[in-house]
Amino acid sequence: MKVASVIGARPNFIKCAPVSRELKRQHQEILVHTGQHYDYQMNKVFFDELKIPEPDYHLGVGSGTHGYQTSEMLKGIERVLLKEKPSIVLVYGDTNSTLAGALAAAKLCIPLAHIEAGMRRYDKSIPEEINRVLVDHCSNLLFCSTQTAVDNLTKEGIINGVYLVGDVMCDALLHNIRIAETNTDIMDRLMLKPNSYLLATIHRPENTDNRTSLRNIIEALANSGEKMVFSIHPRTLKCLNEYGLYDKVRQANNITPTAPLSYLDFIKLLKNAKAIVTDSGGIQKEAHLLQIPCISVRNSTPWVETVEDGWNVLVDADREKIVREIKEFKPNRPQRNLYGDGKASEKIRDILIDYEVKLPKKMGGNGESKD
Ligand code: UD1
Ligand code: UDP
Repeated sequence: MKVASVIGARPNFIKCAPVSRELKRQHQEILVHTGQHYDYQMNKVFFDELKIPEPDYHLGVGSGTHGYQTSEMLKGIERVLLKEKPSIVLVYGDTNSTLAGALAAAKLCIPLAHIEAGMRRYDKSIPEEINRVLVDHCSNLLFCSTQTAVDNLTKEGIINGVYLVGDVMCDALLHNIRIAETNTDIMDRLMLKPNSYLLATIHRPENTDNRTSLRNIIEALANSGEKMVFSIHPRTLKCLNEYGLYDKVRQANNITPTAPLSYLDFIKLLKNAKAIVTDSGGIQKEAHLLQIPCISVRNSTPWVETVEDGWNVLVDADREKIVREIKEFKPNRPQRNLYGDGKASEKIRDILIDYEVKLPKKMGGNGESKD
């Protein structure tokens, strides 16, 4: 089967790595990179470390407003799909690259598969929520990480083509955590001892694009009384500079700021941290899998099981509340297995084989409007 995978942003790369490895065993994969993330540390480092094949097409779209970014991607992806005529298009997660890939496929009547389908925060002010809902409603195959995701889709009337396969980020983590044990010296480079520091990442616009929220978060990290390793996303760096807050980070004796870290460096630091302070989606899952307490600076999460399980706590961008959680949050129950056995990618590969057998011989339009 000829599969076109569309990726473009950091979490897309990590999710794609184990799936791409499995696809290669049975299918032909065309990799389309939108260019949404482009700095070495946000992009190429993941291809090198995770051995993701060179993209067959690089659209070089880069940054911009949602409308600009998504429409440029859509035009580029459509051109590739018309040329390559894949049997199916595969998209990951909830980024603008995911939405553009899904729209391009849907408009050409090419079957669409969504990995990490059914996630919801039930808040349409969040850009990713719009992407998730639209992509799920265009998809023919919906690969879910959790039963909650399956239930969310059922509530929206999506029942056909839904598969509970587990989580592909779990596949990536289980595969790479052993490699990270020996292949990175990040602990030595940052002069860290296990269990002596917290790790922090912040990049959601709801936190970064509001000066007061970002100041509160930085002050909480600085006043926490804990050693903090702070991996700074480019969006966050831009906002810190814009608001004149970067000096606060540099001057805090307890904070070690870093550029975005490679995956192996990041998971090694996460595994050895006392806790993580984050607003990332994927890191909440990784923290749960590695049994690291997670303080999530956000008012809701689609990964509800991590909270129910007692390993993740949600907190507003409020300085005192964040400091309190850093000091007091302690999971008090054993962690359950929420995200599968590391074989989600294999299941996806096999479901695609079955799907191909059932595909009508001729699929796909020519891109022209019929009205
Ligand atoms: C995107 C995703 C978000 C995901 C995040 C992962 C959307 C709507 N958002 O957010 O779901 O959690 O990626 O990291 O797709 N920039 C650089 N260099 C880069 C990339 C970005 O400097 O390589 C800067 C640019 O100033 C850009 C800003 O970061 O404007 C934001 O980048 P963008 O891709 O628009 O969104 P993210 O915040 O990264
Ligand atoms: N990550 C990384 N380096 C970092 C921060 C995060 O490799 O400095 C990885 C992390 O391990 C996880 C993924 O990036 O696999 C999460 O992506 P991100 O937080 O950018 O996006 P989200 O999951 O919130 O969409």
